[in-house]
Amino acid sequence: MVTDKVQFEIDNLRKRLRHHSYLYYVLDDPEISDSQYDRLYRELQELERTYPELVTHDSPTQRVGAEPLKSFTQVQHRIPMLSLDNVFSEEDLQAFYKRIQDRLNSDMSIEFAVEPKLDGLAISIVYEKGELVQAATRGDGTTGEDVTLNVRTVQSVPLRLMGDDYPEILEIRGEVFMPKAGFEKLNRQAREKGEKTFVNPRNAAAGSLRQLDPEITAQRPLAMYCYGAGVVEGFDLPSTHSAIVQQIKAWGFPVCKESKVVEGVSGCVDFYNDILQRRDQLAYDIDGVVYKVNQISLQKELGFVARAPRWAIAHKFPAQEEVTKILDVDFQVGRTGALTPVARLEPVFVGGVTVSNATLHNMDEVKRKDIHIGDQVIVRRAGDVIPEVVRVVSSARGQDVNPIVLPKQCPVCGSDVEQTEGEAVARCSGGLFCKAQRTEAIKHYASRKAMDIDGLGDKLVEQLVEAGLIDTVADIYRLEIESVAALDRMGEKSASNLIAAINASKQPTLARFIYALGIREVGEATAANLANDFTSLEALQGASEEHLQEVPDVGPVVAQHVVHFFSQQHNLDVIKQLLDAGISFKQRAVTASSNEKVKGKTFVITGTLHSMTRDQAKEKLIEAGAKVAGSISAKTDFLLAGEKAGSKLTKAESLGIKVINEQQLTELLAG
Ligand code: IVH
Repeated sequence: MVTDKVQFEIDNLRKRLRHHSYLYYVLDDPEISDSQYDRLYRELQELERTYPELVTHDSPTQRVGAEPLKSFTQVQHRIPMLSLDNVFSEEDLQAFYKRIQDRLNSDMSIEFAVEPKLDGLAISIVYEKGELVQAATRGDGTTGEDVTLNVRTVQSVPLRLMGDDYPEILEIRGEVFMPKAGFEKLNRQAREKGEKTFVNPRNAAAGSLRQLDPEITAQRPLAMYCYGAGVVEGFDLPSTHSAIVQQIKAWGFPVCKESKVVEGVSGCVDFYNDILQRRDQLAYDIDGVVYKVNQISLQKELGFVARAPRWAIAHKFPAQEEVTKILDVDFQVGRTGALTPVARLEPVFVGGVTVSNATLHNMDEVKRKDIHIGDQVIVRRAGDVIPEVVRVVSSARGQDVNPIVLPKQCPVCGSDVEQTEGEAVARCSGGLFCKAQRTEAIKHYASRKAMDIDGLGDKLVEQLVEAGLIDTVADIYRLEIESVAALDRMGEKSASNLIAAINASKQPTLARFIYALGIREVGEATAANLANDFTSLEALQGASEEHLQEVPDVGPVVAQHVVHFFSQQHNLDVIKQLLDAGISFKQRAVTASSNEKVKGKTFVITGTLHSMTRDQAKEKLIEAGAKVAGSISAKTDFLLAGEKAGSKLTKAESLGIKVINEQQLTELLAG
């Protein structure tokens, strides 16, 4: 009697927990907060502790908890786990397509299911009567290792299939991987503890899955995408690959959202280009895309060669990491005087371009990675990011390597180099006396997000400083057509265009101007908040550290930098010259467009927005008189949450802060 009621309650809790865990881990679209989930989980745990006889193997509480293993046992795959052949070019792809058409004796256009090629490790998971019974690595394709206890700890892998219409025996195949953010966090934690870091997410995923102690695996941020079925008994699968993947999804498995169906070579190439271009924005590493003939009947007709199917191919992306040699190291001086060690490399083709320089960030990084001149190193270039040295190939270190030494004097102006205790960055003490700092400050001032002077790019600034035509940002407004026209690669026309652009830029918003000054740690958002709060340059110049700290996003360090900046006579001189040259501030139509619902309120923005970018949302809010902060605190009035909002959403909810979506923002702004 009692047990009936308890059993019902337990079943109900398990159902709800499975549902919410599915929404959270698989669909990435939670309906309840973490704390609500934890409450349900604890309720179930409590009941199971009181009624241990009612604990089942597939209960959400039973993911972790197994004893460490002594070794892994081997698993024979009933159907071998194949690999894929690769192509690296469109011509190779054409040839693959032609081979298929020839074999099928048809010139009809062929449909492909196309998917990202995930950079993790292939896994097979077997379900009997809907319950997870075994998980194994691919191994050599025929024999793998039993990693059941570890795979059970991967939160997005269901312990029980969803729905009630499923095969007696079902083998799901897919890739286990570590999302980039989780990888970064794991390595950061390892570094803090002085432990060894993983070289890349793939390695971290493999290392995490091959732990004898499942407790350790449980703490690793592993994820999985499923891309096929192996053994299936007692069920008729659909007749296309894409429909099979949909069926797999309906059983509760995570599948990749980027996958789709395309036609012919051109459809494949479009997909390749689209994914290649978005590669760095994806939350996980991929090393190419996979094309699979969609019709299962055609797949059967095509069959296999050796260990790969004839009906599928991987189209690989250019490698983002390559090995090369460090020839020398120079130190570059930035706008704030920071000295950055830059490695001069033996040129290497990586990430689609030839790279001959890579940043080493700072001396702490050099030390941590134990980098020497003469070392063989792994260079990484991902997307538009500056190439960096990931690590030394230590096995290849020869005798003739030399340490990298921080210079005592600035390589540009000869001033002393200073390193503050506890700071990784070393700086030239020369300030604006240092030509490098001057040049960088001018580049920043003219840049798009600052004064936005059309045509005054980095190269031209360097030329102007080199020619002695400008020393400070105020000199920009003293430039004359004749002297500019006399520069290399310039002429009358481009010189007069430049002067016109300079004059046209004389009415920035106060926010842009504050940002353009290049005060340390004052980025765009902080500059906008400062402008909003103080509303005039004079007020900001006279502000105390205490007053500054009342502005959203401004802490003691930023406040100190602002006060320090305005306490230096040479900065005040330059500002005066700028104002004398005719700089004046565009008044924001705050009173006209501001509305009482938004004015003076503090917003935080998180997640992906769709009808506008986060920058645009910020701009609109500030225009309407609101403040925009970077992190949630008791001072926050609203959280604007887009898709995939994470910890900020949880925090806002726990503080009882009002959460709005894009639609609600638009309504608020409409007044
Ligand atoms: S299908 C017969 N699809 O690539 C087809 N594999 O080089 C077998 N991989 O061992 C695999 N993403 O580890 C397939 N969307 C995807 C994949 C994928 C990554 C890996 C998998 C496989 C290897 C073959």
